[in-house]
Amino acid sequence: MLKVGIVGLGFMGKMHYCCYNAMDNVQITAVCDADAEQLKNTSGVSGNISGAEKELDFSDKQLFSDLTRMLAEADMDAVSIASPTFLHASQTIEALNSGKNVLCEKPMALNSSDCFQMVETAERSGKCLQIGHCIRFWPEYVQAKQIIDSEQYGKVLAASFQRLSLTPTWSWDNCFLDGNRSGGAMLDLHIHDTDFVQHVFGIPDEVFSRGVIGPSGDYDHTVTQYLYNDQKVVTAEGGWIMAPEFGFEMSFKIMLEDATLLYSSAQQPTLKICPKEGEMIIPEVEDGDGYSFEIQHFVDLISGKSLQSVITPEQSAESVKIIEAEKESVRQRTKIQLK
Ligand SMILES: NC(=O)c1ccc[n+]([C@@H]2O[C@H](COP(=O)([O-])OP(=O)(O)OC[C@H]3O[C@@H](n4cnc5c(N)ncnc54)[C@H](O)[C@@H]3O)[C@@H](O)[C@H]2O)c1
Repeated sequence: MLKVGIVGLGFMGKMHYCCYNAMDNVQITAVCDADAEQLKNTSGVSGNISGAEKELDFSDKQLFSDLTRMLAEADMDAVSIASPTFLHASQTIEALNSGKNVLCEKPMALNSSDCFQMVETAERSGKCLQIGHCIRFWPEYVQAKQIIDSEQYGKVLAASFQRLSLTPTWSWDNCFLDGNRSGGAMLDLHIHDTDFVQHVFGIPDEVFSRGVIGPSGDYDHTVTQYLYNDQKVVTAEGGWIMAPEFGFEMSFKIMLEDATLLYSSAQQPTLKICPKEGEMIIPEVEDGDGYSFEIQHFVDLISGKSLQSVITPEQSAESVKIIEAEKESVRQRTKIQLK
């Protein structure tokens, strides 16, 4: 039985809790939150995982308000870190140094220099570090990558990704709306697409971005073009500056030589393949979502299963580095070279 502790019991910490709780070979032994109220707040979360809305049960867990004490006293093989972004680097490094495997939420850290310190600590400790880039595990995105890699519909001509959300006003201490602690929507939200672009197409040669300063004081709405040494056009738009009624939508349109792939989280069916000739195809999409699949991957990895690599700490650090280049591009109003 793999023993896990969870740090930060907000929206994502509870999501992690529900994912681990659904696994037969995992026992959540401890939970930690700096806010005493959160340790009493056992209400579930609404998300795509069925069952996540159920009440949580902390009665047989060790409860901690401080990570250092939790690492010293709790029986754990692994720690899931779902605290606000500004704490990711220090908490991950502390947990790795105390001999725990770590799953840390995205974005990996506020800057790439902290990210590379996390990478170095993971290597030195010999423990596993996975960053919560759930989109690499999200069924429709996994399927899109498989279709692209297989070249069954030819090469990619153009791809655009969108991730738009109402402004997040609900986080602990209003952290999301403090760019110094969240990095703004460009680092917090849009990085999902930046990371997926890296996953599918590799690190771009250059980025060219425009951005708008928003309520976080940082860039909260952006459009970026990822430039590669071929003709394909790759863009991503992400932002929080949406009216509350909008809610949330992630989507993509991928134009291949012989078909177009269309995805929207706000439509049913979510994924469509429109071939150049013939009728639209509605492919079967695996049940479940990226959160449960990424956590399954982490558990399998530390349980010693041999798995195909989906994400490395270095790639996660590179995604933060690409976002830094995107922000620099907005500031300088010019392309920024990455290679
Ligand atoms: N993968 C995704 O799709 C996704 C979605 C949402 C959020 N996130 C990321 O997850 C992280 C948390 O986001 P959230 O939406 O759960 O925020 P949240 O505000 O709902 O939760 C954060 C929790 O951390 C606790 N906390 C604060 N300081 C702490 C400390 N020192 N030690 C332990 N706990 C502490 C807070 O009390 C709160 O309960 C952020 O980095 C965010 O970017 C990822």
